[in-house]
Amino acid sequence: MKPLVNKIVCIGAGYVGGPTMAVIADRCPDLDVTVLDLNEARIAAWNSEELPIYEPGLAAVVSRARGRNLRFVGQIEGAAHVAAADAVFISVNTPTKTDGEGAGKASDLRYVESCARFIATHAKGHTIVIEKSTMPVRAADRIKSILASAGPGVTFDILSNPEFLAEGTAIRDLEQPDRVLIGGERPEPIAALAEIYRRWVPAERILSTGLWSAELSKLVANAFLAQRVSSINSISALCEVTGADVEEVAAVVGADSRIGPKFLRASVGFGGSCFQKDLLSLIYISESYGLTEVAAYWQQVVDLNQWQKHRFADQLAAPIATAEGSLRGRRIAILGFAFKKDTNDVRETPAIDVCRRLLARGATLAVHDYKVTPDSIASEIGTQGVEVAATPEAALAGADGVAVLTEWSAYAKLDWARLAGMLKAGAVIHDGRNIVDATAVRRAGLGLRSIGKGERHVR
Ligand code: UDX
Ligand code: UDX
Repeated sequence: MKPLVNKIVCIGAGYVGGPTMAVIADRCPDLDVTVLDLNEARIAAWNSEELPIYEPGLAAVVSRARGRNLRFVGQIEGAAHVAAADAVFISVNTPTKTDGEGAGKASDLRYVESCARFIATHAKGHTIVIEKSTMPVRAADRIKSILASAGPGVTFDILSNPEFLAEGTAIRDLEQPDRVLIGGERPEPIAALAEIYRRWVPAERILSTGLWSAELSKLVANAFLAQRVSSINSISALCEVTGADVEEVAAVVGADSRIGPKFLRASVGFGGSCFQKDLLSLIYISESYGLTEVAAYWQQVVDLNQWQKHRFADQLAAPIATAEGSLRGRRIAILGFAFKKDTNDVRETPAIDVCRRLLARGATLAVHDYKVTPDSIASEIGTQGVEVAATPEAALAGADGVAVLTEWSAYAKLDWARLAGMLKAGAVIHDGRNIVDATAVRRAGLGLRSIGKGERHVR
């Protein structure tokens, strides 16, 4: 039987659309996959050897499929591909709204709506439109009403197929997903999309639900993950004052199979493009249905994260600030700017809040990261008082204090015996990820403050 879907288009060549379509094209050589983006520079990068995003394993997947059944094109050229497509994924960004109703909380659907208009204008015959971006629950209603403006004989099905990949492990997550979720209103389009994933995902991992459950499940999955991080981070503060060790506590708590060991790493705070945005969207939706207690419950997950970032910056500042609290003349090494290791992504990275708080008190920062470009750092925290260091050594030279903000594996292997002499006397290392070699740091005669590890032992 001829598959129902032969030609696929994805609008949005970002962190989600690019890798997802590359894996689909790689796993399904008989499908024709076109990825469109408004941003021509991004498309040029996808067509070059310097891909626009860093993701382990991505380059190999792209090089196998690109030029065979995977192409990246600009939006104008993409119109003809939409006309020929059996299925169109919408994978554009859905940032938090900055103005109008729901500003600061609701997801901004303007890009999704403009994609729906583009599809309504160019689609021919029957097309399955698939929400890949994370949407607020009932966003499909908005898309449907726009698609209804298409010409005669042009029809659509709409599916919600949210992506659960995490950055840094995107290729592994796409190739071996815990689950694939497809929400829809009719069985035929759900089966058509499931048939694609079935080429490499076991049938029992492909879950199908109603549209609204699929949209909501994605928000809830991210909210639960973020909640675990805020939960353990709240306990990290309690560990510090009581003398307990948060890693020991997490290991014990996580050994209960009902709780599980994952996502219990205490940190300087969670970052990334999704957690805060999706929590705020969930909060906004709850408020808009009058569920103020539900909204307040999830708001606390956001607030705790903010508090943890500020708490970290203030602990770092305390021993080196003047009596008035100024950090003028103090140089602080920032090791890691990405929101987690193995990515060059800085969206909502905790480094932004930590650095801004230190800069506001007059500190000079020397920032190092293995993958983040100086431009990305400058666009988040400016250049005033900020020096970008090419190596960890260059960042550490002459530092009065050190903050480890990303868990890059190489930071765990730093040779503190050699580096200690480069730091100012009395400099303390504040480990926001609990990855530095504590024994080596102490042996080198340096001070160390780790998240959730108390100095005092209270019995
Ligand atoms: C994704 C999802 O879409 C988002 O909902 C989820 O919550 C996070 O992950 P992501 O792929 O990370 O977003 O976003 P981004 O890397 O910003 O990529 C979006 C791309 O869409 C950009 O390249 C942008 O140029 C493109 N775009 C945006 C269009 O092509 N057309 C538009 O109208 C708007
Ligand atoms: C997340 C979800 O994991 C993914 O399923 C969804 O599709 C998108 O959002 P991502 O933001 O890429 O993925 O990374 P994730 O690994 O979830 O980490 C998010 C943040 O939480 C990072 O800043 C990370 O350092 C932090 N984190 C994670 C902790 O501080 N402690 C942990 O135990 C786990």
